[in-house]
Amino acid sequence: MVATALITGASSGLGEEFAWNLAAAGRDVVLVARSRDRLSETAEMLAGATGVNVEILAADLSTPEGTQAVATRLADSVHPIDLLVNNAGLGLKRPFLESTVDEEVGALDVMVRAVLILSHAAAGAMVARGHGAILNVSSVATWLGNGTYAAHKAWVTSFTEGLATQLKGTGVSATAVLPGLTHTEFHERAELDAYDEIPEIAWLEPEYVVAAALAGVRRKQVLVTPSVRYGTMTGVIRVLPRTWVRALARKSRN
Ligand SMILES: NC(=O)c1ccc[n+]([C@@H]2O[C@H](COP(=O)([O-])OP(=O)(O)OC[C@H]3O[C@@H](n4cnc5c(N)ncnc54)[C@H](OP(=O)(O)O)[C@@H]3O)[C@@H](O)[C@H]2O)c1
Repeated sequence: MVATALITGASSGLGEEFAWNLAAAGRDVVLVARSRDRLSETAEMLAGATGVNVEILAADLSTPEGTQAVATRLADSVHPIDLLVNNAGLGLKRPFLESTVDEEVGALDVMVRAVLILSHAAAGAMVARGHGAILNVSSVATWLGNGTYAAHKAWVTSFTEGLATQLKGTGVSATAVLPGLTHTEFHERAELDAYDEIPEIAWLEPEYVVAAALAGVRRKQVLVTPSVRYGTMTGVIRVLPRTWVRALARKSRN
């Protein structure tokens, strides 16, 4: 496994759970998100509970400056990062034609542009050292074709597959985790009534998703879909005619 991990979107949900899991395993962590206060609070608790070094980097990944600050940290050869977790993400509050182009571009910047730039910075530094891992948080939405969020995640999945192929033999691996619905702040922030509308059986816990993702990284697995439920659903969706998949997608909002 790795010595220091950098996790984007570490102020809540899956990112915060990645930080706890990795710190509990003795890894130093660098926490990235916009909300400095929440990062400081988490950093204090993590360092107190686990004794690892915790660094915080407040950055807005929808901006070129914010993304560049994180890329610079990833390229630091004095304090190397051995695991990059590209986890920051958000749900769009409205369907494509109802949201502003700025909202759409902002989401793309966080979930696509930043993932590309940070992966480039990390992979370059890791290949030069001959080891490391990149974990990109995608989604089962990859296969659903329902709106720009699904398109961003389809890009993350495809990008990770290509990156993994190109990294073969370098000592560096790339993994995409494709979670289904998971209890985090994601749906509340996106103003989705998912908890009322979707039965409890469909939901995963962040601890489970994160443990499955990190186990996949250790195995150098390229695509990880946590849970038998979502693995089976993915298998079925990938063999269905796309007209059927689009008909299903019409039932969801974005
Ligand atoms: N929850 C689900 O059902 C689910 C399912 C599949 C995939 N995912 C994916 O899982 C990842 C984590 O989401 P989550 O469910 O844990 O949601 P969450 O609890 O809302 O966490 C999202 C994280 O992303 C950060 N973030 C958002 N915009 C950012 C920006 N412009 N710059 C930097 N950081 C930003 C947030 O921090 P700040 O607000 O402090 O910046 C927060 O730490 C996302 O990529 C999401 O697409 C979630």
